[in-house]
Amino acid sequence: MQLSTLKKLIFDKNIFAFLRLGKQVDTVYRTSFVTAANSSGLLNSLNQGEQSLIQLQQQLTIDDTKRDALEAWLECGVRLGELGFRSGRYRLKGKLSRHLAKQENQIAAAMFEEAIRYHYDALLSAPVRMKQDKAYQLSDQDGKVIAQSSQILEPFVEEAIEWSLKHTQPKAILEVGCGAGKYLVYLRDRLSSSEITAIDYQADVVAQANQTLLQNNIKDIDLRHQSFFDMQGESLYDLITLHNNIYYFTAEQRQTVLTQAHKLLKPGGQLLMTTSCQGGSSAITALNLWFSLSDVGGALPEVEQLKQSLGQSGFVHVNSKRLMPGESYFAFLAQK
Ligand SMILES: C[S@@+](CC[C@H](N)C(=O)[O-])C[C@H]1O[C@@H](n2cnc3c(N)ncnc32)[C@H](O)[C@@H]1O
Repeated sequence: MQLSTLKKLIFDKNIFAFLRLGKQVDTVYRTSFVTAANSSGLLNSLNQGEQSLIQLQQQLTIDDTKRDALEAWLECGVRLGELGFRSGRYRLKGKLSRHLAKQENQIAAAMFEEAIRYHYDALLSAPVRMKQDKAYQLSDQDGKVIAQSSQILEPFVEEAIEWSLKHTQPKAILEVGCGAGKYLVYLRDRLSSSEITAIDYQADVVAQANQTLLQNNIKDIDLRHQSFFDMQGESLYDLITLHNNIYYFTAEQRQTVLTQAHKLLKPGGQLLMTTSCQGGSSAITALNLWFSLSDVGGALPEVEQLKQSLGQSGFVHVNSKRLMPGESYFAFLAQK
C-alpha cells in the first residue's frame, strides 16, 4: 500500500473507527452463522462426525444448483473459526458451535436462536416496522423454537403451581393457552382426581398438547381447540391458570380476560398467572419489544398495573411473587 493511500484511509475515511468495530462485527457474523447452523441441522450433522460437502448437501436437503452457495456459507463458518476444514471434510471447531451442538444444551440453543432470530430482528427492524406499520404475526415465530426455549421456565412455573396449591385443593381446573401441554402433565401428576380442562386457540399447538398427553399416557384431560373468549358458563372452576400468555392479549383485551376468568371461577376459586413483566433483563426487554411491534398481543404487563386490573375485575387477596431472582418474571395469585 502506498503512503498516500494510508493517509487517505486515516484522515479521510477514519479507518480507526472501523477497526474499533471489527470485533463487534465478527460477533454479529458468528452469532448469525451459528444460529442458522443450529436451526438447519448443520450442528447436529457435524456432531455425529466429520462430513464432506456432498454429505452435508444431502443431509441439509439442498439442491445441486445451490451447492456453491452452501460451500460459500460453510466457508464463512470456517473463516469465523466455528468450523474446521481438512482433507475435504468439515468438522465442528468453535466453542460456540460445539457448545450448542450438545444434546444436553438444546434448551440453551433454542434460547440463543430466539434471541438472534426474533429479538435481534425486532431490534434491527423496529424503526422501519413502526414507520411502515408492519406488525409481526404469530406465524413469524417458529412455535417449536419458542416451546423449547420456554422449557427454561418450567421449574419456576411449577413453583407457582405449588404456591396456588398451598391455598386450595382444586376439584375443577381450567388451563388457558396450554401450549404444548407440559404443565398439564405436572397438574395431573400432582392432582390425580381433579377434573382438568385445557384450551388453546392454535390448532397445531393443541395437536402438540395432545401428543404430550399421549406420551404420558394421560387420557382424562378435556383438551379443546378453543379461544378463551368463546368459553361459556359461570362458576365452573376452582382454579384457572394462565402461564406465559397474558401478553398474547392486547392491553384492552386483558381486562376482558380477567373478567372472563372471574366469571368462570367458583366463589373462593383462584386465578394463577405467570408472566414476564416490564423492567427485566435485556432478553425480557427485547421480548417486550417483539410483542409491542406485533399484532399478536401487546407490551408486557407492569406488575402493579396487573394487580390493579385483577382488583378491578373483582378479585380479592391479589398477590404477586417474583419467581426468578433478579429477573422480571412473576406469578400472580388472586381469589374470587
Ligand atoms: C407462549 S405460549 C405459552 C404456552 C404454555 N402456557 C407455556 O407456558 O408453555 C402462549 C399460548 O397462549 C395461547 N393463546 C393465546 N391467546 C389465546 C386465547 N384467546 N385462547 C386460548 N389460547 C390462547 C397461544 O396459542 C399459545 O399457545
